[in-house]
Amino acid sequence: MMKFDNKVVVITGGNSGIGLASAKRFRELGASIAISGRSAEKLDAAKAELGVGAIARSVDVTSVDAITAFIEEVVDAYGKIDVVVASAGGVTVRPFAAMDERLFDEDLDRNFKGAYFAAQRAIPRMQPGSSLIFLGSAAGSKGFQGMSVYGPAKAALRNLVRVLATELGDAGIRANLVSPGPIPTPGMDRLGLPEDELEKAKAGFASMVPLGRMGAWALLRILPTPSSISHRTKPVMSTAPRSLSMAVWRKFEKRLQQRHRSKGMDQ
Ligand SMILES: NC(=O)c1ccc[n+]([C@@H]2O[C@H](COP(=O)([O-])OP(=O)(O)OC[C@H]3O[C@@H](n4cnc5c(N)ncnc54)[C@H](OP(=O)(O)O)[C@@H]3O)[C@@H](O)[C@H]2O)c1
Repeated sequence: MMKFDNKVVVITGGNSGIGLASAKRFRELGASIAISGRSAEKLDAAKAELGVGAIARSVDVTSVDAITAFIEEVVDAYGKIDVVVASAGGVTVRPFAAMDERLFDEDLDRNFKGAYFAAQRAIPRMQPGSSLIFLGSAAGSKGFQGMSVYGPAKAALRNLVRVLATELGDAGIRANLVSPGPIPTPGMDRLGLPEDELEKAKAGFASMVPLGRMGAWALLRILPTPSSISHRTKPVMSTAPRSLSMAVWRKFEKRLQQRHRSKGMDQ
């Protein structure tokens, strides 16, 4: 199994859902973890799960000062940053006509600005071989009713990683966007919809998946071996809907390993 001993992983939105699942997995693999979120209660619970040494801080990602202070605290504690997972985000579902300025700013800032500045503040503390991972969404590529800010914010992240690939290539820092399909997380219950509409929306999301159900977050399922993590063209993570059979995954992993070997990436 690959190891992340001596790697420092920062996860915004790490006290819930995808961010917390990612933090736990990185922790199992030996990484030092720093998570942020808003709810102090959820941060305490997450810290207890992550164990001794994990940093858990309340950081509103819409505040650049707060993000900067968090990144500096992590560097003071661990001396460096190897991976940033920008998972903080969320959506308030509203028809376009009903979107007001406050909701507009909230969805744009927590999904785009927060990830943008978390990356910008961390990059000077990252060495070649480090990795930025942004959480996109299918809503960033498709049009979904009621997501007139969330969708464009996620689309902006998609473009941001392309820009960063051109700017950070020489520094050996990779930028990747992962766009999960629907994953049942606490975030799914925070769409800002009345109960009956929420249930309909969830059923609608599940029906968009060919297997008719939501996926499960399986970050790191196909992470490269640590020796190859410094290769900047290599994919670093994937969502793996649990509904895919293990046989399919093994085939996929095998193909990926063969491709890496053929490119000399496992040296
Ligand atoms: N679940 C899905 O189906 C799905 C699909 C595609 C993409 N995504 C993306 O995946 C990421 C994680 O979502 P999730 O489903 O795991 O949702 P979640 O469980 O609600 O987690 C969202 C996280 O973001 C944090 N957060 C939200 N606004 C914040 C702010 N202003 N400042 C700081 N932290 C903030 C939350 O902190 P608190 O809990 O403390 O408020 C929480 O830790 C999001 O970027 C989401 O857009 C999710």
